[in-house]
Amino acid sequence: MAEMMWAGRFSKKVDDTVNAFNSSISFDARMYKHDIQGSIAHATMLGDCGVISKDDSETIIKGLKEILADIEEGKLEFDPTAEDIHMFIEAELTKRLGSVGKRLHTSRSRNDQVALDLRLYLRDEIKEIKELVHKFAVTLTELAAKHTETIMPGYTHLQRAQPVTFAHHLLAYVSMFIRDLGRLDDVNKRMNECPLGSCALAGTTYNIDRQETSDLLGFDRPMINSLDGVSDRDYAIELGCAISLIMTHLSRLSEEIIMWCSWEFKFIELDDAFSTGSSIMPQKKNPDISELVRGKTARVNGNLMTLLTMMKGLPLAYNKDMQEDKEAIFDSVDNVKLCLKTCIPMVETMKPYVHNMRNAAARGFINATDCADYLVKKGMPFRDAYKITGTIVAYCIDNDLTLETLPIEKYKEMSQLFNEDVYKAISLDTCVKGRKSFGGPSPDAVKVQLDIVKKQLGM
Ligand code: ARG
Repeated sequence: MAEMMWAGRFSKKVDDTVNAFNSSISFDARMYKHDIQGSIAHATMLGDCGVISKDDSETIIKGLKEILADIEEGKLEFDPTAEDIHMFIEAELTKRLGSVGKRLHTSRSRNDQVALDLRLYLRDEIKEIKELVHKFAVTLTELAAKHTETIMPGYTHLQRAQPVTFAHHLLAYVSMFIRDLGRLDDVNKRMNECPLGSCALAGTTYNIDRQETSDLLGFDRPMINSLDGVSDRDYAIELGCAISLIMTHLSRLSEEIIMWCSWEFKFIELDDAFSTGSSIMPQKKNPDISELVRGKTARVNGNLMTLLTMMKGLPLAYNKDMQEDKEAIFDSVDNVKLCLKTCIPMVETMKPYVHNMRNAAARGFINATDCADYLVKKGMPFRDAYKITGTIVAYCIDNDLTLETLPIEKYKEMSQLFNEDVYKAISLDTCVKGRKSFGGPSPDAVKVQLDIVKKQLGM
């Protein structure tokens, strides 16, 4: 059992249950590298400022580097009875260096230490998440570029509404993921301030240099208020929120993929390597990945709620409640990375069935707006054109016809403005090509869009 660093004040050993309850090493050990990185900066600064001797500073730094190497080479294992990663590394340092090791914690508290470690850790994770989101956006954009002419139905209320293209549909998601990249940048920008030197809550009487540690660790500046330095977890909440939005976008796409795979749609076929079978029904090929992504979005949203609720009633400054931040944000980080890593190759390998998309677009009176617009272009007010077209659609439904197969005589009965050219005006290709307003689905408009997102993604 690791001896508690704070044993001096106590006459009894802490109860084993309490120790286990209190300990966070099982989940904060993953921050070992960042803890050591922070300690090295701290020791450097203490040496430079003369708070400890240069010799001691160098000895401590060397010892910390050895501990890091030993952990990475598997020579040093985390002690599960240690209180947390911070205590574990400090105790290990002291075990190796004797009393010199005990000087590291001068002018520092675990409160600013943990605040620092979490920022450093999440800064690295944000970089990784950004790379994955970027890669996914690139994957979708590349797929879109191949399908600027692939007509599919666009939906509202999950009812066929107006024709779009597969490229247009995919690029809607690319826009979402580009916003996600921006959001991750925003989190990073606000998070990249250094809490080290806030100490327990009230700074320190030692002559320290907070600018130096901030610079050494690549922060933009030291945080300007020591109480805020140790109390703030906004960055974890903001990141949790940014991740929830990424997952929301992934989840919506997953829902569509699940539908598109069904026999009712059959717009796409997933690669066998990215689908699963049933234990009883031999015909089944299930989109489990997409379902899991949709499911995991729930827990990620739960993590965000955990963080918000954990913080909402806390008085300044540090409270142990805040130890609960890690499992929540780590779980969100882990899961969003896992989902992105799985979705990228799944989308890369899925096969679109362009004929099925087109066939679906050819049914469901998806060109009714265009039929009304035809009358408007011949001078009829839109509301009148809308009503006449509605009557035509109802007639077609009753008589098992489509707008394409309704005879011209019937059209003329409804309005004298109709001519033979109506068939061209309501053809799917005309409907899509005509929607060339900026941001629209026509192949030309989508090419403009593609150019913009490619530039944004540096493709
Ligand atoms: N394991 C703690 C946490 O994650 C570290 C900070 C402990 N500070 C303290 N004053 N007990 O929050």
